[in-house]
Amino acid sequence: LHIAVLMGGWANERDVSLMSGEGIAKALEERGHRVTRIDMTRQVAAQIAEVAPDVVFNALHGVPGEDGTVQGMLDLMGIPYTHSGLATSVIAIDKELTKLALVPHGIPMPGGRIVKSADLYESDPLARPYVLKPVNEGSSVGVAIVTDDSNFGNPISRDAAGPWQQFSELLAEPYIRGRELTTAVLGDQALMVTELVPKSGFYDFDAKYTDGMTEHVCPANIPENIADLCRHYALQAHRRLGCRGTSRSDFRWDDERGEDGLFLLETNTQPGMTPLSLVPEQARHCDISYGELVEIIIADALK
Ligand code: DAL
Ligand code: MG
Repeated sequence: LHIAVLMGGWANERDVSLMSGEGIAKALEERGHRVTRIDMTRQVAAQIAEVAPDVVFNALHGVPGEDGTVQGMLDLMGIPYTHSGLATSVIAIDKELTKLALVPHGIPMPGGRIVKSADLYESDPLARPYVLKPVNEGSSVGVAIVTDDSNFGNPISRDAAGPWQQFSELLAEPYIRGRELTTAVLGDQALMVTELVPKSGFYDFDAKYTDGMTEHVCPANIPENIADLCRHYALQAHRRLGCRGTSRSDFRWDDERGEDGLFLLETNTQPGMTPLSLVPEQARHCDISYGELVEIIIADALK
């Protein structure tokens, strides 16, 4: 097959996407495919038309790329592509829309509200501790935990150097104490549950992509009923959102509250494929190599 690996672009997660894309491209080459790497520009339609691939491997993360824009363009061009389609991507990239889609189906997600960043400086939108996050970013870009002793001030001071500052609107959610869990879905099967134990206590961008900064416990050392629930919710989210190929659902679990303490934070439709990423790691635990994983994702795109 001639496969175009679409990566990079101008999202905040550009560098993560380049890492994912390079890993994917190498693995596809090793498996005998003809691979063209495309670093997405504003002329992406022309870039793809010139290459005329059999299929596009979408290795983009964030906006644009994970949000339906590229998916819609490829639909119009009639070129098959990996991962979720247009409508799913539009919903899943937005953490607030995801709640509207999943909570009515009994998938527990944290409450919260959308706030204008300017309003943060007048009063706290929620009781502390709470989390501020952009609705449509990945890799913890722009995420901050606001506690009583965080040095942002109380209420947040206009001069506070918070990571959220580049965003005019934010999602404020109650902070869920406890543990960070994640489950990949591949095809129509939930894989494993991994617990992330960041040395800093916060699984932020650096903890995600710096080797040694986070311990990955796979399978997670948690009660069987909680692991079953993670797999159940991850699969339900994948199906309800209409995800294709693979997705990865991230959770917080308040281990003092048992099953009632488990909350799905979001479902990622373009989960990372870097050397430290979680879908490849869970696949490996299920005896699926990285090369087999990319092959399965390609096969799914061509179904
Ligand atoms: N947004 C990153 C790439 C992930 O979900 O893995
Ligand atoms: Mg994400």
